[in-house]
Formats: sequence, structure tokens, C-alpha cells
Amino acid sequence: MTFSEQIQQGIPTILPQEKKYDPTINHAPKRKEILSASEKELALRNALRYFEAKDHATLLPEFNEELEKYGRIYMYRFRPDYKIYARPIEEYPGKCNQAKAIMLMIQNNLDYAVAQHPHELITYGGNGAVFQNWAQYLLVMKYLSEMTDEQTLVMYSGHPLGLFPSHKDAPRVVVTNGMMIPNYSQPDDWEKFNALGVTQYGQMTAGSYMYIGPQGIVHGTTITVLNGFRKIKKSPKGGLFVTSGLGGMSGAQPKAGNIAGCVTVCAEVNKKATETRHSQGWVDEVFSDINELTTRVKEAVAKKETVSIAYDGNVVDVWETFDKENLHIDLGSDQTSLHNPWAGGYYPAGISFEDANDMMANDPEQFKIEVQKTLRRHADAINNHTKKGTYFFDYGNAFLLEASRAGADIMADNGIDFKYPSYVQDIMGPMCFDYGFGPFRWVCASGDPKDLAKTDEIACQVLEEMIKTAPDEIQQQMLDNIQWIKGAQENKLVVGSQARILYADAQGRINIASAFNKAISEGTIKTVILGRDHHDVSGTDSPYRETSNIYDGSRFTADMAIQNVIGDSFRGATWVSIHNGGGVGWGEVINGGFGMVLDGSKDAQRRLESMLFWDVNNGIARRSWARNKEAIFAIKSAMKENPMLQITLPNFVDDELINKM
Ligand SMILES: NC(=O)c1ccc[n+]([C@@H]2O[C@H](COP(=O)([O-])OP(=O)(O)OC[C@H]3O[C@@H](n4cnc5c(N)ncnc54)[C@H](O)[C@@H]3O)[C@@H](O)[C@H]2O)c1
Repeated sequence: MTFSEQIQQGIPTILPQEKKYDPTINHAPKRKEILSASEKELALRNALRYFEAKDHATLLPEFNEELEKYGRIYMYRFRPDYKIYARPIEEYPGKCNQAKAIMLMIQNNLDYAVAQHPHELITYGGNGAVFQNWAQYLLVMKYLSEMTDEQTLVMYSGHPLGLFPSHKDAPRVVVTNGMMIPNYSQPDDWEKFNALGVTQYGQMTAGSYMYIGPQGIVHGTTITVLNGFRKIKKSPKGGLFVTSGLGGMSGAQPKAGNIAGCVTVCAEVNKKATETRHSQGWVDEVFSDINELTTRVKEAVAKKETVSIAYDGNVVDVWETFDKENLHIDLGSDQTSLHNPWAGGYYPAGISFEDANDMMANDPEQFKIEVQKTLRRHADAINNHTKKGTYFFDYGNAFLLEASRAGADIMADNGIDFKYPSYVQDIMGPMCFDYGFGPFRWVCASGDPKDLAKTDEIACQVLEEMIKTAPDEIQQQMLDNIQWIKGAQENKLVVGSQARILYADAQGRINIASAFNKAISEGTIKTVILGRDHHDVSGTDSPYRETSNIYDGSRFTADMAIQNVIGDSFRGATWVSIHNGGGVGWGEVINGGFGMVLDGSKDAQRRLESMLFWDVNNGIARRSWARNKEAIFAIKSAMKENPMLQITLPNFVDDELINKM
């Protein structure tokens, strides 16, 4: 059977051969045993409803074994034999170009070179699922190959409810992931209802088919490091950035430090992770001896080198030694996995990596004591540095939260806030999101690197033109992104689909997309798929991350994210998604996104203008209502540009009046 025929058949009528568990592939860990006996029965009934009754006797024991062994029913037997990757769009069967583009994006998220646990349909973050099982994948691809541009596919947490009649301007797919009744949104509820096969954790760009590999995090980290140096009014040249973690996302830090142009020291306790990042060229040098590290760092700073250096050991040793040596750290952060402190996210100091792993398995209580002891030392050493002028920020990994739980000296004088800001509070929020700058991305559906190079050129030209008349407030952000796009080809950032990311504001996004659409209509490039990370201006309500710089009390509400997805859907998005969980955890965040296919048509032009304007200005309007001055500036500019936009602006109360009360 050809690839197209396999897609069109959906769930095969003749059972495929059983698949052997491949130990060479990175698999999802066994999930917690959570279902009662009767719930297990329900999970099996739920799984079998995808298949004809004639196959139930064969599949029942197999699915039961998967549930017992892995805690989930993945339906491994139905994993297709063809290679899954983002093929050129014309290789997908179907009646509608938009649906083919979505197939391409789905396959990219499941590509072995891209996905973290491809056989379990997990793209990233340990549990960021595209689908819950292979039957869902097969059905979705079949539906997409059949749909017309007068239908919409409805997706409930990986499950295709079906194709519904709609119209040309409606989204082709509407995705919801993990949408729970609020009282059923505790972490164990995810375990239970995911095991039952009725919900899934879509992370941000996994369950919305918008993941583009490590490029997204490299860009976001570069922007953060650059703006971090700006915050302290120092050039990255000759500056020192100290942090830790060379894992999945954290591994982007040294590369980002190099793009920014500073000296980066990144500690990592796991030799394998260090070796991987070193062999990939994501970190330049590795030192295992702390004294040699110190000497080398002093030299690199003195010579204003652009270099990234890994320390093969615990980050606490770096902070403490640099303190003793009076080695000045300009920027400090941390990207160990402290959202997961007791199961390998954070390693205690003074104990080898191997011994720590033994302790974690055999003496978890002692392990917890050691972790908390190290966190207190870690915070003390950081405090010593910040007294000497270091700027420290939390990088969205729950460092401050866990340090506070460990009793570390990390609380501000008011006893409510932390001593240090999160990167969104101080950097990303006021410098980017409040002005509308966020992670705009695109994928060239031809799969041709030459198309990507052309889109890079077009985007660069657009930004260079815009910067000539841009207000002072946003010159720097534009300049950073022009520099980024110029270096993008050289930095070889593509893994999987031919994708690019940059930060742009509403007008920048509209202008770049319009220029792409024009180039497509002229035949210079082929179809382009637009999207963005959910970690953006308007798409995500997350009180300790994306909306942590909202101070009017509304950061615990999720109206913005919900309004955003509804608004995108009737303004022309090709697909939309809304998720519970993503980055910081189930129940902690509501986040949404979109995909939009540009085919060079007038319809595409109309849709991009309408939807991108809303997709950014919704968040700016909300941020301005929260009294964020950068957002008030941005929304006033947007109203000047477009008289149809009328936003409710806040009035400020005199502090003295309140204080006198
Ligand atoms: N700010 C953001 O935009 C953003 C984005 C993605 C992830 N995150 C957060 O960052 C954290 C890291 O993500 P990841 O994907 O890299 O996780 P990861 O688990 O792959 O990597 C973390 C690394 O830290 C190392 N480590 C743990 N304790 C250490 C210690 N004491 N000293 C030195 N090294 C130590 C681990 O060995 C591991 O390799 C997570 O909490 C994640 O939620 C933030």
C-alpha cells in the first residue's frame, strides 16, 4: 500500500501484526497505577470502541497488558510502518490544502527526530501528547484526507469526535486538550482520566501541532539573555551569565549565550547530558575541575570572549566557588527541573550523580532532605552574589517556589513575594509581551530549505523597513529580531519541518505574513503555515509565568486565553486549540494557539489581517487594563492606527489618596 492509501484507510480492517516494544527508542516512563479494577474495565471498553467487535477478543488481552505495564493504552500494534515526518505538502492525500497542511504539522510533532517519546505520541515535556493512542492518529489522518473546506474536524483531547459541516472561513480543526471541570483539575485527575482514555495533557505546542523542535527555546532564551543584560545596562560582551541544566530545554542556554555574545557558565550533573550538548556543538568547552573552570572563566571575561562553558558538576559548587573567588556574575539564573524536585529534577550537592540516583530510589526521604539542604545553600550563595550586584531571575522552573518550600532565605521583606523576580515579571513581560512582541513562527510547507531562506530574507526586509519609522520604545526589540533572523541560517536551527521563529508585534506579524502571502501569489515561494508558541502576549493565562506581571489580581483568571481562541476561530484561523496545562503543570495554566495556512489568495490576506490583529491586541488590551504602562502605550498606538479599535483604558488613583485612607 502507498503512503496515501495507508492514510486513507484509517484504522485497518485487517489487524496489522503486533509490534515489538523497541528498547532503542526513548519511551515514556511507566505511569502511576491509579485506576480501580472497575475503572480498568472502563478504560478497556473505552479503548475497544475504536475497533470492530470481531477484533475485540484479540485486542482485549493486549490492551490490558499495556495498561498494566505502562499505565496507559497506546495501541502500539496500530503504529504505522511508514516513516512519520513533515513531508512536502503535496505528498498528503486530500481534497483541501488546509487539511494537508495540518497533516504535515501533526507528522512533524511525531517525527522520531523531533518527538521525545514518539511511540507514546509524546512530543515534549514528558507528557505533552499529540494523541492518546494510535487509533486516534489513524482516524484523524483519515478524516483530514477526506474533509472539504466546508467541514470542521472536532478534536476532544486527541479523540476525533468527527467532521461537522461548517464553511470556508471556519477553522478546519478545533482542538481542546485537558479541558476539565475546574474541581477535577488536580495532577491525579490527569493520571486517572488520561488512563481512562478521556483526556490528555497537550502541553503547549504538542497537542496543537505547532512544535518546531529546539529552535523555539533557543530564540526565547536568546531574547531573555539579551534583555537581561539590558536590564542591568551592560553589554553582553565581557559579561558573565551563570546558570545550570543542559537538558531538553535548558540545553539552549549556552547556545543562546553565544548568540547574545557573553561568557556563559552552565553546570550540569549528568555527564551524558553534558556530552550530548557538547557533541552537538551547543556548548563549547567542558571543565570537571572547579579551579580550572574558575581560571578559564576569569580569562574569558577579561578577554571579552563569546564562549559557553559547561561545568561537569553541581551548580551550587559554581555559585559558592565564584563567591569565594570574588568572580563577578552579571546575570544569574537556573534551569534545573525544579517543577519535579523529588524524582530527578534537582540533584543534591556533595553526592555523586550515581549515588544520588540510588538514594532517590532507595531512600527517598533522605533524598528529599538532601535536596532541600542544597536548595538552602544554593539560595545563600545567590544572595551573596546579588549583594555584590548580580542580577538573578527565576527562569520558569519553580526554583524560587521550591527554595521557599525548603526554608531558604528567598522571601522578600513583605513575606509574600520572593526576593527575586521571574523572567516574565522583569524581562519578557514589560519588554516584550506588553508591547505585543511574541513568538511568531512559520513553516514552509514545501519542505524546501530554499523556501525557508527566502522567507528569512522577506521577514528581514519587512523588519528593516519597519524599524525606520518604529517608535523608540520598540526599536531595540526589532533590532534584536533583525539580528536573529540574519544569523538564523548560519546558526542551523532547523530540526524537523522547515520552520522559523522570531519575536514581532501585531503590525510586524501582519506585515511579514502579508509579504509571504504576496510572495506565494507571485510564485516566489510555496504555501506557508503560520503559528506561534502559546507562551505569548494573549494566548496564555498562567499566574506564575506568562501573566506573572499582571498585578491587578486578575492573573488567576483565564478570560484572556479563552477569549483569544474564540476570537481567532471566527477571524480566520485554519485551526485553533485551547489547553489546560502546559509548561507549569495541569491545573496551573490555560493556554491556546492557532495555525493559519497562507496560499497566496485574497481570502488568506483578509484572514491574516483580521486574525493576527486580534490575536495580539487582545492581550495588549488586557495588559493595559491591568495598568501595565508599556501595554497602555501599545494599545493607544494600535487605536491610532485603527479607529475601529476602541479599548477601555484604566484611570490611575493617586497613591496618596489611597495611603490616607
Ligand atoms: N523559561 C522557559 O521558557 C522555560 C521553557 C522550558 C522549560 N522551562 C523549565 O525549565 C526546567 C528545565 O527544563 P528541561 O527541559 O531542560 O529539563 P531537563 O530535566 O531536561 O534538564 C534539567 C537538567 O538539570 C540538571 N540538574 C539537576 N539538578 C542539578 C544541579 N543541582 N546542578 C546541575 N545540574 C542539575 C539535570 O541533570 C538535567 O539535565 C523545567 O522546570 C521547565 O519547566 C522553562
